[in-house]
Amino acid sequence: MKILSVVGARPQFVKLAPIASEAAQRNHEHVIVHTGQHYDPRLSDVFFTELGIPAPDVHLGVGSGSHGKQTGAMLASLDDVLEEHQPDWTVVYGDTNSTLAAALSAVKLHLPVAHLEAGLRSFNRRMPEEHNRILTDHAADLLLAPTQVAADHLAAEGLADRTRVVGDVMTDVLLDVRARVGDSFPEFLSSQGLARFGYYVATIHRAENTDNAERLRAILKSLGQVNLPVVLYAHPRLVARARDHQADLNQGNLLVHPPVAYPDLVSAVLSARGVISDSGGLQKEAFLLRVPCTTVRTETEWVETVSLGWNELVEPGEALLISAQRPRPADTDASPYGDGNAAGRVLDAFEA
Ligand code: UD1
Repeated sequence: MKILSVVGARPQFVKLAPIASEAAQRNHEHVIVHTGQHYDPRLSDVFFTELGIPAPDVHLGVGSGSHGKQTGAMLASLDDVLEEHQPDWTVVYGDTNSTLAAALSAVKLHLPVAHLEAGLRSFNRRMPEEHNRILTDHAADLLLAPTQVAADHLAAEGLADRTRVVGDVMTDVLLDVRARVGDSFPEFLSSQGLARFGYYVATIHRAENTDNAERLRAILKSLGQVNLPVVLYAHPRLVARARDHQADLNQGNLLVHPPVAYPDLVSAVLSARGVISDSGGLQKEAFLLRVPCTTVRTETEWVETVSLGWNELVEPGEALLISAQRPRPADTDASPYGDGNAAGRVLDAFEA
């Protein structure tokens, strides 16, 4: 069988890792196409190296741009690539502009397309990711849902017959990487005099938090006021918008660091007092590592993290500080994101 994966942004490289490994084990031909949405080596190359993903076979080099220009440039190039390869399955991951472009290209060429991480919904129509998810789910032939909640969303939209619940592939990766990093402690953190449970890990990058100057300033101010040092792994989008809005990244307790490779992030989170973020992936990773999370958003797609008590949705200001500094939640052995073998079930679905 010939599988073709289209990826372009950091979280998609993480999701690709277990699929690439499972496809190789089963001796399937696997073509990897990188759109170039994320071109910074710290958001891209380091993930391929650290997670053992084969280098992309095709690189479209699309880069940044408005949503229309970026998505359009991907579509134009993907048509040629898909025509040439004629894969049995085109796999698209998550909710980025790369996901939507690849799903549209494949469906219009009548090539079977599978959406990995189907059915997630924030119900916030201001988010570009929400449109990417909904449009991709309705275009795709096979909807690989990470949870029952996601499958229920798809059923409510009339898509039950194309849906399979496979579990969450990011859980596959996280369990592997957690075993690999053991109890190592990142050098940057010790060089700053930080000790286990004596700091927070933060990331902020979403359009709704970075594009508005007032909101971005309020978020940075709150992060700087948390009672312990806050290690802010700064996404290029955050750095660029902070510069545009003259918002100070270096204030109060904030320690700014460039983005790090996945194993370094996992070991930083494992020893953190808490996580403060607007990332989808990081909320879930914090839950899986049983580190309390404060999410700077009004809604989440990963609702189980909230209902189980390990994640809180807050506005910047007082609410953020209270949430971050709250006592550790009650322990739970719930595992709504699967058993770490989601990629096996994805390949089973392709082979069925
Ligand atoms: C994208 C996804 C988002 C995902 C995130 C993970 C969409 C609509 N959004 O957001 O769902 O959570 O990736 O990181 O697809 N930039 C660089 N170097 C890079 C990449 C981006 O400097 O390698 C800067 C550019 O100024 C660019 C901005 O970041 O304009 C935004 O990049 P873009 O790829 O449009 O979206 P993200 O914010 O990264």
